[in-house]
Amino acid sequence: MSDSGVSATPYDSIGGEAAVRRVVDRFYDLMESEPGYAALRAMHAPDLAPMRGSLAGFLTGWLGGPRRWFEENVGVCVMSAHAVLPIDAETARQWTDAMARALSESGVDADLAARMNDAFERMAGGMARMAANRDN
Ligand code: HEM
Repeated sequence: MSDSGVSATPYDSIGGEAAVRRVVDRFYDLMESEPGYAALRAMHAPDLAPMRGSLAGFLTGWLGGPRRWFEENVGVCVMSAHAVLPIDAETARQWTDAMARALSESGVDADLAARMNDAFERMAGGMARMAANRDN
């Protein structure tokens, strides 16, 4: 609780726009450069620049910061947006692994990173299950 009586959001705690951008850039740099994330990279468009903006925008609102991405994507559910993708346990693991590394290497506070990693693992697991149910 700050002096104004307003609780800090995770967006404030992580360090705002610059910190979110740092995490997202590290995430896509890792995806681009690490052979272990090749399957995940192959699912993405050749140009990752639009995704850098989109994921940063989503995470900004999701963490309690400005909700521009949600205002520009009214009705878009991030889980449903992945329903058409061939996500399996391995590509879900590559996503959460790359993101955990990006959070750690960007210097995000360990407790906040752990909470974010928990949420990402639940989301990624759900995305892989949606794809498995669809393909059955
Ligand atoms: C389970 C593993 C995941 C895989 C394999 C995956 C893969 C992808 C791919 C291939 C795209 C389209 C990219 C392109 O057009 O180049 C995408 C879009 C996106 N993903 Fe994921 N993703 C995963 C998990 C997540 C998670 C956990 C989140 C949120 C925390 C997320 C957030 C987004 C966002 C915001 C977009 C852009 C949607 C839009 O602007 O239409 N993804 N993802």
